[in-house]
Amino acid sequence: AQPKEPALPLFYGWFLISEVEEKIKCSTMEFLKTLDTLEAFKKHISEFTGDADKEVDLEQYFQTKTPLHCTTEFCDYGKAEGAKEYAEQQVVKDSCGTGTELSVVGLIVTPRTFGAHVSLTPEQLLLWPTGADKVGIPPADLPGVEALPVGSRAHVTLGCAAGVEAVQTGIDLLEILILQQGEEKAVTVEELELGTLSYMGQGRWYLALREPVTCDAIFSSFSE
Ligand code: A2P
Repeated sequence: AQPKEPALPLFYGWFLISEVEEKIKCSTMEFLKTLDTLEAFKKHISEFTGDADKEVDLEQYFQTKTPLHCTTEFCDYGKAEGAKEYAEQQVVKDSCGTGTELSVVGLIVTPRTFGAHVSLTPEQLLLWPTGADKVGIPPADLPGVEALPVGSRAHVTLGCAAGVEAVQTGIDLLEILILQQGEEKAVTVEELELGTLSYMGQGRWYLALREPVTCDAIFSSFSE
């Protein structure tokens, strides 16, 4: 009989170490609380509730998915295209179990997802699969995506609305980044202690952090 090939994981990524995970969970929940109370946010509440008179508790609205991580390659146990090639790269094998510092530069909130925008270093980009930014993007949006720097999709999913899959966070982030580089400027801008908050229409919010938050993380594969 042929020796069985080792199974591929569900995905690879950088996993926040547990102390950092706790800290990020707390501070991002604080941000949601702040956002919830802003008049600017209340003005657009119907994009979250479907009803302008209804209130929303954002902390309840988003369900946290742990462990918090920044996905590099979604392998789907080998079913995803390019998964095997990714796993076989020397840099991927050598990096498993090694630590790095992820730099969180912004936060996104949409009616679907809540996420942290990660800025990757050139070294981290070596683990970023070619074409990963484009996976699952509708063809109509591709020109905008192609104009963004490689690694633009890098993020940590902090929470999803009921019934929404985590993969949506990266798509929401790209949509926001495309809008930011386009001619349409943010509709509302508010200076908060944490940074500059922009409203991008259709319930999409972006907080550009005044100071990037550095998070210790470990590169690893993950299987359920
Ligand atoms: P993300 O990286 O945006 O958080 P799930 O729990 O749905 O099986 O997903 C496991 C992880 O893999 C999640 O982190 C998720 O999204 C990511 N993921 C799921 N599907 C895809 C996909 N098609 N492309 C890229 N990443 C994916």
